[in-house]
Amino acid sequence: MGKQGRVRVPDLHEMKRSRRKIAMLTAYDATMAGILDSAGVDVLLVGDSLGMVVMGEDTTIGVTLDMMVHHCRAVARGASRALLVADLPFLTYHTSAAEAIRNAGRLMQEGRAAAVKVEGGAPCAGIVRALTEAGIPVMGHLGLLPQHVHQLGGFRAVGKSRDEAEQVLAGAQAVEEAGAFAVVLESVPAELARRVTGAVSIPTIGIGAGPHCDGQVLVSYDAFGLYQGFVPRFVKRYAELGSAMAVAARNYIDEVRGGTFPEAEHSIGAAGAHGVLAK
Ligand code: KIV
Repeated sequence: MGKQGRVRVPDLHEMKRSRRKIAMLTAYDATMAGILDSAGVDVLLVGDSLGMVVMGEDTTIGVTLDMMVHHCRAVARGASRALLVADLPFLTYHTSAAEAIRNAGRLMQEGRAAAVKVEGGAPCAGIVRALTEAGIPVMGHLGLLPQHVHQLGGFRAVGKSRDEAEQVLAGAQAVEEAGAFAVVLESVPAELARRVTGAVSIPTIGIGAGPHCDGQVLVSYDAFGLYQGFVPRFVKRYAELGSAMAVAARNYIDEVRGGTFPEAEHSIGAAGAHGVLAK
């Protein structure tokens, strides 16, 4: 780990070398980032999944660079240890290398990200190279590419056919060769993820890609039971925070309506606001 225990880009290579699995989760705000960071997560991803789990959209396509910068800055305030990676959203890295560099630069300078993530294999290699040569660490993303959902015809597994599997493998090799420091493999067969993990020297981080990757990532709203929309079968629910919040909200509503909240201990007494504000 880097100074003061901060996880740095080269640490991920070392983790692959020493076979220490990388734990990555998404975060979109300072409070959740602080909780996950304190728990010891290695990488926090400000994913463009925020379009779905935070903004309530059906896809990630509507996420803009301004939204990503805004949420990234909040996550950066909450996290002091984890490596902070931010997604470059749809069409912010496709039109030219110059635009990709400028946009990634905003995520780093304004959002305080340490690295960016881009979706795509071999066709994306030129952009990965341009970003890396500008000093911007890049994480690749292969398999199911949510920004290509319309082209794919929905959120579906990728790499079951021989052609698709070869494309994923070649894509991982192309982004590694172009300078990517790690690659996410989403919704691919476990056997393909195992092949890719053995074929590249950079860490693979799987989501719906089986146990053979060098690390795993989950969308935190899925993993902790907050997201109420469709959740893929590969997600493990580590908590049911959505149900817990609903119970808490119902208790609060009942107490407000029944006049039992606030009680004396939650009211400002003779000492005035001072005691309350000082906690
Ligand atoms: O946007 C996101 O949360 C992601 C993860 C699914 C890897 O890209």
